Amino acid sequence: MPTICIAVPLEPRYEVLVGRGLLAETASRSAHYSARALLSDTHVAPLYAGALGLPEATRAHLLTPGESSKNLDELERTLEFMARTGLDRSACLLLLGGGVVGDLGGLAAALYMRGIDFVQLPTTLLAQVDSSVGGKTAVNLAAGKNLAGVFRQPALVLADTGTLATLDAEEYRSGLGEVLKTALVAGEALLARLESARAELAARDPDLLAEVVAECVRTKAAIVARDPTEKGERAKLNLGHTFAHAIERVAGYGAIPHGVAVGTGLALALRLSERLQIVREPALRARVEALLAAFGIPTTLAALRTRYHAQLEPSELVRSMRLDKKSVAGRPRFVLPRAVGELALGIELEDSALETVLEAA
Ligand SMILES: NC(=O)c1ccc[n+]([C@@H]2O[C@H](COP(=O)([O-])OP(=O)(O)OC[C@H]3O[C@@H](n4cnc5c(N)ncnc54)[C@H](O)[C@@H]3O)[C@@H](O)[C@H]2O)c1
Repeated sequence: MPTICIAVPLEPRYEVLVGRGLLAETASRSAHYSARALLSDTHVAPLYAGALGLPEATRAHLLTPGESSKNLDELERTLEFMARTGLDRSACLLLLGGGVVGDLGGLAAALYMRGIDFVQLPTTLLAQVDSSVGGKTAVNLAAGKNLAGVFRQPALVLADTGTLATLDAEEYRSGLGEVLKTALVAGEALLARLESARAELAARDPDLLAEVVAECVRTKAAIVARDPTEKGERAKLNLGHTFAHAIERVAGYGAIPHGVAVGTGLALALRLSERLQIVREPALRARVEALLAAFGIPTTLAALRTRYHAQLEPSELVRSMRLDKKSVAGRPRFVLPRAVGELALGIELEDSALETVLEAA
């Protein structure tokens, strides 16, 4: 399948290229910068840094893989690395890896000398369909996930779907959770495509993956272009995330992959939507749960607890939701499905009603 190019029509405009073998274009597509440095992690760099075609002398800083690296200490070490490397304001930071490298590296690039360019080279399904596009950068604080960050768009995204072959099953599953979220935001065509292509998705068929990644990027790019700093419509992309962030926080960051928590969060959002009589399509929860099951993502809190040996007490989850960035005056705000591609935004409810839904799940 040829490379697919999606333009993100922001100011400045940037492109997201999706296809196999794209990492090899990194060197030529970043050759105009005064200097380049690489940020990756110790798992991804040995697999793919060689594919970038960069000069041998290119300096690299490698994070310890995983969510626990997305913190202020690592951010500082990365900034010191950039300074030691002598990057100037016309230099570029290349971010090779998953959402952790992309989120922390994007923030480092935004802060360094008040902002230099960065190129996203996402190597997880989650990063390709979601985190590498849209300009949200952040690190976690002890008080919560992604609490310290800025909006800063990448200069370019090269999503090489060939890298997805080496993802372990759990990380692939995590990406599928965000793909399913995007389908519920995008509309019937993508959801039906996922349903009809379950076997190819399970087999990581490269052409199908390129098609699905591109469709998810198109969906996100269109929303981000209309609402780059989440003043309104962009909140749609948080479907399932109020539950997911609480689940991740209560379980301990890194214990449950983000996209898996999002997947279970979608099922919970649908239960809540049913309880509040917001959802109009009675079969929607069954469709979503069938896809989650096919992806190997728990559809209930009970199953999530068992799989990850996590407590996930409803009262603790509700407490955690009050701390969510999207809470207003301590009240969580939910994005809930009405139908495929149609969402209700900013839904608030009593803690007791929320706990009842969580107790039943
Ligand atoms: N900025 C955004 O808009 C946004 C959106 C969604 C999620 N996120 C953030 O993204 C993060 C999660 O990202 P993630 O799921 O990519 O996790 P991750 O970056 O921790 O990567 C997961 C694991 O996969 C390994 N890996 C990466 N690419 C690989 C490959 N091709 N082959 C084999 N192993 C590979 C990594 O070394 C790591 O161990 C979270 O911190 C989440 O908050 C950000």
